[in-house]
Amino acid sequence: MTEFHSPDWQTYQMRYGEPHRELEPIEREIEVVDHALAALHAAGILDGTAYDGKRFLAHRAAVREHFEIPWTAISPRLHRLIYAINAIAQPRVMLAAGVFCGNTFIANAGAAVGPGACYEADELVGIEIVPAEAERAERNVRRLDPSRRARIVAADARAFAAAVQRPINLLYLDATDSGERGKGLYLEILEQAWKNLPPGALVLAHNSVNHGGKLDAYLACVRDPARFRASVNVVIDPEGLEVSRR
Ligand SMILES: C[S@@+](CC[C@H](N)C(=O)[O-])C[C@H]1O[C@@H](n2cnc3c(N)ncnc32)[C@H](O)[C@@H]1O
Repeated sequence: MTEFHSPDWQTYQMRYGEPHRELEPIEREIEVVDHALAALHAAGILDGTAYDGKRFLAHRAAVREHFEIPWTAISPRLHRLIYAINAIAQPRVMLAAGVFCGNTFIANAGAAVGPGACYEADELVGIEIVPAEAERAERNVRRLDPSRRARIVAADARAFAAAVQRPINLLYLDATDSGERGKGLYLEILEQAWKNLPPGALVLAHNSVNHGGKLDAYLACVRDPARFRASVNVVIDPEGLEVSRR
């Protein structure tokens, strides 16, 4: 299976300026995400499907309390899915590229720091090219994770990925170039990180549905069996998340 759709993905619409608004009963959110996790398991991308729903809710409450989020396209379903993928895969090293205010970063890192933590990671880094956004993301993350295990750096994710000297177990891609490249940056970042992605590493790419053609080359790459063991486009909202395993 290369695509997983929930039947209502087109009508499940969030408002970007209201990140915490409930869009559906929580039982429905859990059910949709459970089905998506089962599809990822069946495809060989995840080794299991179980995560602690109570810890996730503690994480969600902490984000709501501590984070300044001017807008986000991460729907409640996708937030839960990203947290769950990290809670299940437990990456020692997680890199997130293009983190804006840090909301997407903490959706990943929240499985290892703060009140939703369910394992210990070695390194959790969010990379944001706009210094003022990186500062805000760092402030947000610091309120939730005083331990400093999770951190934000102001840098170009391509250069940062090229300089990494250790295996990356999970790479989250969300960097958007304001010019012509747009989401075309994903492939550039992936190519820089490639040497450090061991077999079994996960790569998550936001906007696998509404990318306006800018992800075509990226999607061809992660769906190429010569490069990735499996890749599934998880379509549970109008944005989408491509989840790939080396
Ligand atoms: C559209 S935002 C992601 C927002 C996220 N999808 C959400 O809903 O919260 C993309 C971010 O990528 C950043 N960015 C663009 N080019 C980058 C690069 N080369 N390295 C790191 N970050 C980059 C932008 O500054 C921007 O903050």
